[in-house]
This record gives sequence, C-alpha cells and structure tokens, in this order.
Amino acid sequence: MSTDPTDAVPGAVNDPAESFDRSARAYEQLVALNRAGSDRLVRALPDERFARVLDVGCGTGFATMRAVERGGVTEVVGVDPSPPMLEVFAEHLAGHPEITADLRPATADDTGVPDRWADLVICTMALHWMPDRPAAIREMARALRPGGVLAILAPGERHDRPTVDIIEDTGDPLVIRLAQSIVSNEIPVTWLTDQLRDVGLTPLDVWAETRMRVVSPDAVADRMDAVATHLWADLPAEEQADVLRRVRATFREAAGPDGLYRYQFVKTFAIARAPA
Ligand SMILES: C[S@@+](CC[C@H](N)C(=O)[O-])C[C@H]1O[C@@H](n2cnc3c(N)ncnc32)[C@H](O)[C@@H]1O
Repeated sequence: MSTDPTDAVPGAVNDPAESFDRSARAYEQLVALNRAGSDRLVRALPDERFARVLDVGCGTGFATMRAVERGGVTEVVGVDPSPPMLEVFAEHLAGHPEITADLRPATADDTGVPDRWADLVICTMALHWMPDRPAAIREMARALRPGGVLAILAPGERHDRPTVDIIEDTGDPLVIRLAQSIVSNEIPVTWLTDQLRDVGLTPLDVWAETRMRVVSPDAVADRMDAVATHLWADLPAEEQADVLRRVRATFREAAGPDGLYRYQFVKTFAIARAPA
C-alpha cells in the first residue's frame, strides 16, 4: 500500500469536514488522547509570549485553549470548514472576553489573515485531512511574523499499522477504506522537516512519539465514528450504518482475552520558526 502522504482514499468521497459536522458535540470526549498530544505540543513551545494565534483546522480549538491557559494570548483566528466544530470553539472562548476572536468557516489554503500576522500558528491533528498539504504549510508560513513559531501535531509514520493489518485481514472492501485512510494520513517526520525547510522555516524540534494504548474496542470504534464517517459518505445511510457496525465488530473480535483492544499510535510533532 502506498505511503505517499498526499494520497487520497480511492473510492471515497473524502470530505473529512463532514465527519466533524456530525461529531462536533461529542468530539472532545471521543479523542481525549489527541488532546493529550496537543497539551504536549503546547508545553514544548519556546518560552515566549504569543499574542496573536492562528489555529488552522482548529476544530473545537483545544490546542489554542491550552495556549490561552499559558497566558499572553490577545487575538485568535480559527479556521475550519466545519461550522459545528467552530461553534464549540466559540463556547470555549466565551469565557475569555479579553481575547478578540475570529472563527472562520474556511479551509487551510485560505486562512484570510494578512501576511506576517501571527506570532503562533497551530495545526493539530488536521494537516492529514488537508488535500494539498504542502500548500497548507506554505499558507501557515505566510501568516507567520518574522521570528514567529509554527507548531504542528499529526499522525506519524506507521501510526496505526497493526490496526491496518487487522482491517485488511477482513477482506471487506468497504471496511478496508478505513485502512487506506489510516495509511494515507501518515505524516512522516522526514517529510514534514523537508516541507518546513522548503517554505523557509527553521525546524527547532521535529519528533515522533509512539504510545501503546489499551482501550475498549468500542472506544476505538467510537473514535473512528467521530473522525472517519466521510469515508462512506457515497453510500446510502443504511449501508453506512452497516459498514460502521462491521468496523465495530472487527475491533471487538481483535480484543484480547481481557476484552481490551491494544494498539500503537505514533504522532509527529513539529516546532519551527520563521526567519527574524
Ligand atoms: C481531528 S480534527 C482536529 C481538530 C483540532 N485541531 C484538534 O486538535 O482537535 C480535524 C479538523 O480538520 C478540519 N479540516 C478538514 N479539512 C480541512 C481543510 N481542508 N482545511 C482546514 N481544516 C480542515 C476538520 O473539519 C476538523 O475539525
């Protein structure tokens, strides 16, 4: 199977924002482990003040909210094609009247911010859903002020390969779309480092973390329901529900004798700086 990070999933309608329109209200609970990655990314930022923050593919904005907790943020622009995700972000920001916020239903190639506007650009668990990843990174670099910082979190190389193997073993072509999506979502450290350099940024730290997770099989299936239902958007509703049931059954069958599903997850982290 190809690991080219620009591959789309064959046969799928492939508009990821549709999944997030459906899952916005439950999203933060279902991807609690993504939140932990965002926390680690924000904790790894240089010890500086970032007043203007652009969050690309912001979703419900929890990475920006970690930056807000860190202090010093006065202006936030959030860009995401899913209005229900932006609504949840607006609710989080409502508790911070000192912050000027502009949440835009748009895609990464069109953030709408002026050149050199942002002190900090954040993009967490979203780059892999963007159809033109190099263009998205170029846009993020354009938005950074001289000396500003870009922080990215994404699924890493071979991030969930044991799950890919289990899904492929089903031989079910519709369920296998999920495996194709997992593989095409990989953002390798080397690829990302090269892209950051290509847009003129200096990588300060680019690294991968591998975690072993032990969860109920339904927790994995619920996360897939939250982030990947767009893979079957071309099917009638009943057939979509049936595929999701088959995905759930696959994870349940793969659970150990204790009823828990074990899997590895690799994340790519990157922090880079614009030239002064
Ligand atoms: C897994 S969520 C991550 C949200 C948030 N950044 C986080 O860390 O939880 C992926 C987000 O990317 C958004 N997205 C999908 N395609 C996009 C695109 N082309 N440009 C910007 N955001 C996009 C989705 O709507 C969704 O909110």
